Amino acid sequence: MKTIRVFFLTAVVVVLGACESNTYEEVSGYTDTPTYEANIKRIMTAHCTSCHSVNGTESGSPLETYDDVVAYAESIACKMDGQECGIMPPSGRIPQGQIDMFNLWIAQGYVQQ
Ligand code: HEC
Repeated sequence: MKTIRVFFLTAVVVVLGACESNTYEEVSGYTDTPTYEANIKRIMTAHCTSCHSVNGTESGSPLETYDDVVAYAESIACKMDGQECGIMPPSGRIPQGQIDMFNLWIAQGYVQQ
């Protein structure tokens, strides 16, 4: 019985530790003054350009340059949200901190640098 309890506590500590490091990573990449070059481009590269690029399956809607992302910004925001116009990426919602940052970037007027 005691062994089970110790095992359970260890499992809880491991799980909590894992959550903590994820949260830290997410928060450490977050800024409330996002720019395309510093923040937005890397979100696109991490989650979108594998398909949305000149050589990808969605070459008709590339998201590789500042101009591309500005042109699709409203549609991207809607698809990242995943409620009303389908979900992107198709594998599921990206971390909320990145979605918030993208919306802030639109609200602040698409700062490039
Ligand atoms: C696995 C491939 C894949 C990935 C990764 C992917 N998409 Fe898509 N995307 C598609 C496909 C297929 C379509 C067309 C069908 C549809 O609209 O659902 C599409 C359509 C779109 C459109 C509409 C384009 C148009 O012509 O109006 C936008 C905007 C979009 N995706 C944004 C994104 C964003 C933002 C990401 C990353 C967060 C992303 N996609 C990741 C496959 C992908």
